[in-house]
Amino acid sequence: MVFAQVGPGSEPPVNDPDVTVRAPSLPVITDDENLFEAFGGREGLVKIMDDFMERLVVNPATKPFFENSDKERVKLQLVEQLCVIMKGPCTYSGRSMAEIHRGMNVSERAFYALVEEFQRSANKMNVPFRAQNRLIAALAPMHRDIIDR
Ligand code: HEM
Repeated sequence: MVFAQVGPGSEPPVNDPDVTVRAPSLPVITDDENLFEAFGGREGLVKIMDDFMERLVVNPATKPFFENSDKERVKLQLVEQLCVIMKGPCTYSGRSMAEIHRGMNVSERAFYALVEEFQRSANKMNVPFRAQNRLIAALAPMHRDIIDR
């Protein structure tokens, strides 16, 4: 049996019957990606969240969830949380994703509508696609804690 040379962090060859394929590794954001800077730092994130929240209260799929929420608080918590995920100099003081979203009955449709609105806001602020995709990949595993049905 010939094994492909795999470097650190790469996936095992999936077509090898001797290799048990486990869960795919989760996307990890490394310090050298400068994602936080690509999003314009804290100031950039604040602008993106302002635009994002305006969209969330208009989009029919997300409006029912956000229209009566404390929008200023949610925006601030999102800035902190995204900053932490992107290895920026912040601390997240909000509750866990599961705790916040439990019982909200967030559907898959609402989840993807939210992601689309986020992309619209990020595009408007000229965040490079690669940086957007890296962030979205890091957020995707959270959907288990957010979607109810
Ligand atoms: C990856 C996707 C998501 C992330 C990272 C996220 C993150 C957050 C954060 C950080 C907060 C504020 C936490 C706090 O106040 O302590 C929050 C609140 C909230 N989220 Fe999400 N969320 C996501 C997806 C969604 C989706 C898809 C919906 C519904 C369509 C949703 C609905 C809400 C609502 C309504 C609140 C306000 C709760 C309240 O006022 O107590 N979230 N979310």
